[in-house]
Amino acid sequence: MDQPRKPPFKPYRIKVVEPIACLSRCEREQRIREAGYNLFQLQAQDVYVDLLTDSGTGAMSQEQWAAMMRGDESYAGSRSFQRFLAAATDIFGFRHVLPTHQGRAAENVLFSAILKPGDVVPNNMHFDTTRANVLANGAEPVNLVIKEANDPTLELPFKGNMDTSRLEQLIAEVGVDRIPMVMMTITNNSGGGQPVSMENLRDVSAIAHKHGLPLFIDACRYAENAYFIHTREAGYDRRTPIEIAREIFALADGMTMSAKKDGLTNIGGIVAMNDDAWFEKARERLILMEGFPTYGGLAGRDLDALAVGLYEALDLRYLEDRIGQVRYLGESLRNAGVPVLLPIGGHAVYIDAHAALPHIPQREFPGQALSVELYLEAGIRTVEIGSVMFAHTDEQGREVFAPLELVRLAIPRRTYTREHLDTIIDAVTAVVARGDTLGGYRIVSGSGPLRHFIAVFEPVTAR
Ligand code: F0G
Repeated sequence: MDQPRKPPFKPYRIKVVEPIACLSRCEREQRIREAGYNLFQLQAQDVYVDLLTDSGTGAMSQEQWAAMMRGDESYAGSRSFQRFLAAATDIFGFRHVLPTHQGRAAENVLFSAILKPGDVVPNNMHFDTTRANVLANGAEPVNLVIKEANDPTLELPFKGNMDTSRLEQLIAEVGVDRIPMVMMTITNNSGGGQPVSMENLRDVSAIAHKHGLPLFIDACRYAENAYFIHTREAGYDRRTPIEIAREIFALADGMTMSAKKDGLTNIGGIVAMNDDAWFEKARERLILMEGFPTYGGLAGRDLDALAVGLYEALDLRYLEDRIGQVRYLGESLRNAGVPVLLPIGGHAVYIDAHAALPHIPQREFPGQALSVELYLEAGIRTVEIGSVMFAHTDEQGREVFAPLELVRLAIPRRTYTREHLDTIIDAVTAVVARGDTLGGYRIVSGSGPLRHFIAVFEPVTAR
């Protein structure tokens, strides 16, 4: 098997450090027991490497911190908003731009302004909050990702693509009157951080527009998606990420975005569109829920940090390091015999816990067992994306388990070094090697679709 490729070039050095502790195994055993074996309930100070999410957890640059000192905190029409608007317009090119405090707020503002009960929203794959916001407005979210996306072992360059024939079919069945918009999530987080090709975006845009439907992009990780197009799609190796980004957004009519990802900030979101009437409705919702349209739930200094971060995320050397880190982690684990979702995505490595711990049945949550053991082994915090999160009972009262039992290792941006990655690789390899000694978990308390945040677990066999 090929050697894991090391990230090529570290385009920054460290100026400010944040101390982290590493507890003893005995202390970790106590902390995880006190947390009810739920990693969301751990205190951050008890975690060594925190891979819970890549959202808002990255490091800002000196230019971003410097920009924050220029934050203009005027209630209306601040200079910070003007700088944010200039950057967002330059990259995304939409006529109207509104800041929000995070991604789900952008979704709520847009959907509560536009969706009606009975509507259907096609997407390659809705992220949880996007899906929940569609449902909360009485509409139905439909996922149309290519079927190959469901096979964790299949290596395809653009596994986030939408199945365009299923889109045509859905439009024919439902009718355009009930479809207010078509959405595309780049990269596809729920499907493993997999990118969408420019060709697929072009095809989806053409189909939507042929039927008079607007195309909206969930742009959380658009810069990472642009990087994959640059490296994997014919004809794009000489195009810069910003040129590719502009081409993507020129195919669309609007966007929502959590700036906590490729905005390289700790908080922030964006909703943007071309349509004047939709903008007026969205602006009204924004004033009601977020704040005045020139700050939208953010401080002026946050807008300034975002104005800088949006460009930094499109820097090719930054992207090579970023995607290179995730790839190094994923390829090293794969080489060590750990079953990982392939190909390695842009922001996270996903371990197939069902394949790693085949003796633990789904009702005893193999992903949770693996997550807890990784914390015990080396203080690493990951997140289960399997039956703890998605199992539910159907109308006949039968338990329906998640299609995949995954553990996500999300890498914060510009935050950890290769030493941290090597610690993770050693810990995961050791835990998976003695996987047959691990037992499952049962839920003691916590129910409903958000139980993963608050559930209390206990080991099935006493530790
Ligand atoms: N869309 C996608 C594709 C996301 O990954 C997220 C957040 C959101 C929307 C919502 O943005 O958190 O700012 O409100 N994903 C985070 C994660 C939470 O851990 O994957 P938000």
